[in-house]
Amino acid sequence: MNQDELKALVGQAALQYVVPGQIVGVGTGSTVNKFIDALASMKDQIKGAVSSSEASTARLRALGITVFDSNEVSELAVYIDGADEINGQGHMVKGGGAALTREKIVAAQSKMFVCIADESKLVDTLGAFPLPVEVIPMSSARVIAQFAKMGAQASLRLKEGEPWVTDNGQHIVDVKGLKITDPVAFESQVSQWPGVVTVGVFAYQKAQICLLGTADGVKTLKF
Ligand code: 5RP
Repeated sequence: MNQDELKALVGQAALQYVVPGQIVGVGTGSTVNKFIDALASMKDQIKGAVSSSEASTARLRALGITVFDSNEVSELAVYIDGADEINGQGHMVKGGGAALTREKIVAAQSKMFVCIADESKLVDTLGAFPLPVEVIPMSSARVIAQFAKMGAQASLRLKEGEPWVTDNGQHIVDVKGLKITDPVAFESQVSQWPGVVTVGVFAYQKAQICLLGTADGVKTLKF
């Protein structure tokens, strides 16, 4: 099976965690797109979704699924999202699709985070994938310098030569050369730097379940 087929497999498998009659939290990315497409098959059994990006909102609405503002919903039973990396404790690096801030918000309002990923995403130590950090534009140079002091190489994400602008109107810094051995401490530290909106380490909002697409089928990891 190729990577795309593995993503479709876990997207379909995630339907078992969707609670009929309720609102489901929906993440962002190519794996989640497979989940959204699968979710259309049970759209009449759910109230709707809270979405973590404009892209997912558009895809959900195009399939006839109602999208609620997160402020309208007090708690979600489950949040389903992908990851750029996940370790053996359920800690993740996320934000490759620049949706990390809204993803962390929806994850925080959910009782359970179900991560859907192909097996290439499972790692021993987080940090090989460039870590996304959403920043207030006027702070990007200072945040980049802070990472350089840690021995890492950070740069502003660009699109057609201009800074990438997130759904929240902010910029993204991508950080290479990190070995995140203590994700909880790292997330706490970087979250306190002035100008950092969200760091893409999800240790506080970690996954409880990972549906991992492998050559042998879907493996369920529990953390
Ligand atoms: C978007 C994310 C995605 O979950 C992450 O980038 C994985 O994406 P994909 O499923 O396309 O590999 O965090 O901000």
